[in-house]
Amino acid sequence: MANPIKGLVLAGGTGTRLRPITHTSAKQLVPLANKPILFYGLESLARAGIQEVAMIVGDTRHEVMAAVGDGSQFGMKVTYLHQEKPLGLAHCVLMARDILADSDFIMYLGDNFIRDGVEGFVDSFSKRTDGTNAQILLAKVPDPQRFGVATLDDDGSIVSLVEKPKVPESNLALVGVYLFDASIHEAVRSISPSARGELEITDAIQWLISNGKKVRSHIVEGYWKDLGEPEALLEGNRLVLESIGRSIEGDVDELSTLDGRIVLESGAVVVRSIIRGPAVVGKGTVIKDSFIGPFTSIAAGCVIESSEVEHSIILNGSQIVGIHRLEGSIIGKSVVVAKTERRPLATRLVVGDHSRVDLG
Ligand code: G1P
Repeated sequence: MANPIKGLVLAGGTGTRLRPITHTSAKQLVPLANKPILFYGLESLARAGIQEVAMIVGDTRHEVMAAVGDGSQFGMKVTYLHQEKPLGLAHCVLMARDILADSDFIMYLGDNFIRDGVEGFVDSFSKRTDGTNAQILLAKVPDPQRFGVATLDDDGSIVSLVEKPKVPESNLALVGVYLFDASIHEAVRSISPSARGELEITDAIQWLISNGKKVRSHIVEGYWKDLGEPEALLEGNRLVLESIGRSIEGDVDELSTLDGRIVLESGAVVVRSIIRGPAVVGKGTVIKDSFIGPFTSIAAGCVIESSEVEHSIILNGSQIVGIHRLEGSIIGKSVVVAKTERRPLATRLVVGDHSRVDLG
């Protein structure tokens, strides 16, 4: 291998599909089990031995840069490139040309989650002896029209790729992880913008295939991407919680019970409560006289008091007080959901744009 594999991580875009959570947060920083989606990707790139990453950022760049920093927390060096308009994934490759030089690289879309990481995938590409020019990850999805879709031969090689087809020819979606050698640079220079005005990476890969390059594919399990509904975020959260271990660093009083796989971070306090895992509770969160049920992620600095919460995601600094039962819910940052005795005994809501309230 001539050069070590580099990383090209895409962390721009606006994230309309996960509103209202992404009104105030980059979609790549939406947490699954209290950790930003993007961090799972960076950790897995680091485990795969990638030390140099070019990260494309957009309107939410300040937040992304504050979270990721210079990359040293992941053991890598991150250089940021600001894409001012969403001109497409292939345009990102053009932008990173100097950093990538002629090295092999992995392009990774920062809003995707791959449960088992990419280490095996990177390893097989760097050890290849058959002259493969590109290797792309695919996953079986129920709604392929939302993705780039691949059609395969009987022997598994790619016949064609179509970006968001109305009538998909297979259920194999491009998950947004691609390995390339330097031949992709000619491909991204050779294609034209699509109907939506973007330089599509799908078209660049199709160019490689049409120009006799070798493109292999690999089908992954445990893939998650936001699908536009809050339920999808809860499903991603569940996917991650299914594989957590047990780690209790916070304080638990003798009147509380913690059943099963639970991560209770340092400074969290549990008083007269039951937590039934899998669940995670962030730093400094206080849980008092409450029940926390399976598949719940509660971020740092929250207060849950006299409430029951199950199968939900609660972001930083929020308070849930006196709520008989909260299920299948996503609560943003610094939100207060409280039962009060104030007269008149009515429901009083201050709810942001694109929110949803289902009263049970
Ligand atoms: C992009 C790609 C698409 C791929 C998807 C995976 O679409 O263009 O081929 O299937 O990522 O996340 P986007 O989500 O940017 O519309």
